[in-house]
Amino acid sequence: MAHILGFGGYVPERVVTNDDWSRWVDTSDEWIIQRTGIQRRRFVADDESTMTLASDAAAVALKDADLTPDDIDEIVLASDTPEMMTPDTAALVQNHLGCRYIPTYDLGGSGCAGFVQALDVARSRILTEPKRILVIGVEVISRMISMEDRSTAVLFGDGAGAVVLGPEGGRAEVLGVVSGTDGSNAEILTLAAGGTRNPFNERSLANGDYNRLVMDGGRVFVEAVRRMSEAATGVLEKVGRSLSDVALVIPHQANIRIIDAVRKRMGLDEDMVFVNVHEYGNTGSATVPFAMWEAVRDGRIHEGDLVVLTAFGAGFHWAAAAVQF
Ligand code: ACO
Repeated sequence: MAHILGFGGYVPERVVTNDDWSRWVDTSDEWIIQRTGIQRRRFVADDESTMTLASDAAAVALKDADLTPDDIDEIVLASDTPEMMTPDTAALVQNHLGCRYIPTYDLGGSGCAGFVQALDVARSRILTEPKRILVIGVEVISRMISMEDRSTAVLFGDGAGAVVLGPEGGRAEVLGVVSGTDGSNAEILTLAAGGTRNPFNERSLANGDYNRLVMDGGRVFVEAVRRMSEAATGVLEKVGRSLSDVALVIPHQANIRIIDAVRKRMGLDEDMVFVNVHEYGNTGSATVPFAMWEAVRDGRIHEGDLVVLTAFGAGFHWAAAAVQF
């Protein structure tokens, strides 16, 4: 069995409003709110990075679990915006937190579904061997994509969320996870440069590929709604529960129209769906663990509640988890 022993989250202090964006590119507060619901987001300061955000969120989760870095047996970190190409960010977090020489690894490229997939990987590891595992979702998207491309840049923010997973105790149990991938859609949502197909070089720098996020917004929208709804109902079926048992759904926070469409498709009341996208924008793999931390911290989740996490991202990947508090 895999239990959540502690919850954590961290966002940088710097707030970037829609009015800030209106000064930098041809956009408006009205357009951004109408299309996405986003009012503001956070961007990292110069001395922050993927590793520092991840470590800050992990430290909060460790404190919440009343554990120290010494108690951690493994780290799995989901991010599409790693600190560097190699080594992975998880190794840097191990060193920064002062953990023992434990195994650590990144789950990279799963987009916004990364954290829920990482939760599944960590959960499976615990089922084979009792361990305490730090599971982190983190993104510093503001440093990776073009800040001149209004159609993508205004959607995102930086942040991190984390949980400590263990074999027993804690406040919640991960009952089950479902996940899936459709790699035929890889080109619809991609930051292609920097890999072996299109390495960073003078050419990618000259033609602007190096930070170009390619996104077919309409197709992403449709797939995100379908996959997140189906994954959420799929995981309930897998663990033998139904929608009427659910107290709260925490969907990936991409934009309010996607969240609303998922809610309507699943037939949920507004108060059954957690929303914070207006405050932080889309923080990729960090949205779900950060939202879960906020929901726990703010008393939105109570003992006995069944909570469903559901996420969708580049790949396309999707994943949903049923968590019993
Ligand atoms: N400000 C003002 N105008 C803009 C902006 C902007 N920031 N960005 C695009 N526009 C313009 C476009 O140029 C276009 O102008 P045109 O009609 O003159 O060509 C117009 O607005 C409409 O553009 P659309 O792409 O049709 O706008 P749409 O209503 O589809 O909304 C959006 C775009 C918000 C991206 C939507 O498609 C969407 O939410 N898609 C989901 C994508 C998403 O959330 N991706 C996040 C990463 S993936 C994930 O997390 C699941």
